[in-house]
Amino acid sequence: MTSLAQALYLLAAVLFVLSLAGLSKQTTARRGTVLGMVGMGLALAATVLLSLEASRRPVLVTGLLIALVLAIGAVAGTWRARSVEMTQMPEMIAVLHSFVGLAAVLVGYGSWLTEEADVVHGVEVYLGVLIGAVTLTGSVVAYLKLAAKIRTAPLVLPGRNLLNLGALVASAGLMVWFLATNGAVPLVLMTVVALALGWHLVASIGGGDMPVVVSMLNSYSGWAAAAAGFMLGNDLLIVTGALVGSSGAILSYLMCKAMNRSFLSVILGGFGVEAGTSAAGAADGEHREMSAADVAELLADARSVVVTPGYGMAVAKAQYPVAELVSRLRATGVEVRFGVHPVAGRLPGHMNVLLAEARVPYDIVLEMDEINDDLAETDVVLVIGANDTVNPAALDDPGSPIAGMPVLEVWKARQVVVFKRSMATGYAGVQNPLFFRENTAMLFGDAKTQVEAILAALPVPAAH
Ligand code: TAP
Repeated sequence: MTSLAQALYLLAAVLFVLSLAGLSKQTTARRGTVLGMVGMGLALAATVLLSLEASRRPVLVTGLLIALVLAIGAVAGTWRARSVEMTQMPEMIAVLHSFVGLAAVLVGYGSWLTEEADVVHGVEVYLGVLIGAVTLTGSVVAYLKLAAKIRTAPLVLPGRNLLNLGALVASAGLMVWFLATNGAVPLVLMTVVALALGWHLVASIGGGDMPVVVSMLNSYSGWAAAAAGFMLGNDLLIVTGALVGSSGAILSYLMCKAMNRSFLSVILGGFGVEAGTSAAGAADGEHREMSAADVAELLADARSVVVTPGYGMAVAKAQYPVAELVSRLRATGVEVRFGVHPVAGRLPGHMNVLLAEARVPYDIVLEMDEINDDLAETDVVLVIGANDTVNPAALDDPGSPIAGMPVLEVWKARQVVVFKRSMATGYAGVQNPLFFRENTAMLFGDAKTQVEAILAALPVPAAH
């Protein structure tokens, strides 16, 4: 039984690696997901086999207990997966990360209570609880920020870097105490310090830098799972945790590069970054409005159009009428492309998923770096529910909280139309001078309703 389970573990680990490889491209993402699901199915089957074998109770009782928890997990997971809105995915992922952190803390305490004390085991328990506790509260704060239940602006406590440093030094001292005594006091004290550290690290990060925090917590949750794997002696959990931990770290690094942020500064809770001085209301002036019919007329005369989607497109579920508008324009010979900012929306790849869902062809969906140079030669840019990712203040205002972040330079086009409901700021809480530029017009209202109104107003092409 054990060797069969080990073989299944090995197969599952290979499938997880292939799954990650598949997920790296849009065209193979579906296959990647299926491989991951099969791998997880095999991993669960192998774990059940091993648990039955190791059980000290009658096999039937253990089997029934496992079936019961699997059923509870499956029902809860299926219900949540079916009921969650696409716009709530980021916060749901943050909640799932917090579960991994909580699991690592509980496994750590369980292992400390039941296993023989030795130095290696002590280190496993200590690090497992430490990483788990930081992940737990960090993910809860990330959830609260992503769900807009607390403000997204960074919390700036006096001496915040010293507080973080103090927490790390205290954790190192408590580790020495714990390893020498295997006592409850240093373990509990460290847990409290780590919970506070996780909370503070994420609370100190501004809204614009949240994408990096989300992928960083993803990475932490992987390391927490790997630590739990060491404590439970489960090789697959170690491998899977290390895969999640390292891929999350690579993603955080890529995100930092895309946003021109220092990786170290973000993982150290905003170390070395002064809070931005310009915020909401810093830009103002006269804005111009257009109606859906005006935009339809503008599009009918355009030869090249670029659509830059943002979080508002996800909220409005406007991707379907946007896809239809694009296909109608392309059918009349207009060159239409999408320009996707690496942190548009609330999840890495958020816009790509929505556009794929609406069956937009992959080859017209370009990344920011691929489209930015072409914007100056573009007739019309449609900014659908994007805000921070098209904000010129990132380049022009060194005091802005988003200063230095590369953005889609949409203002270089001949005409820009911004679809949003009001003059409100974007996620980072920064006013957007784009709205007051001479070549920008605002189309207020829900993005889906307005795109549908444009579709209705577009002249129908003559039948051939
Ligand atoms: P945001 O700056 O979030 O702005 C979205 C805009 O959409 C808002 O200004 C809002 O204006 C508008 N909107 C909302 N609902 C709408 C609706 N139904 N119809 C039309 N417009 C609507 O968008 P973005 O440009 O995508 O930037 C993303 C931001 O999120 C960045 O700051 C990024 O750092 C952050 N973030 C990203 C991620 C990842 S990984 N992508 C994760 C966490 C945070 P109104 O209210 O006026 O309509």
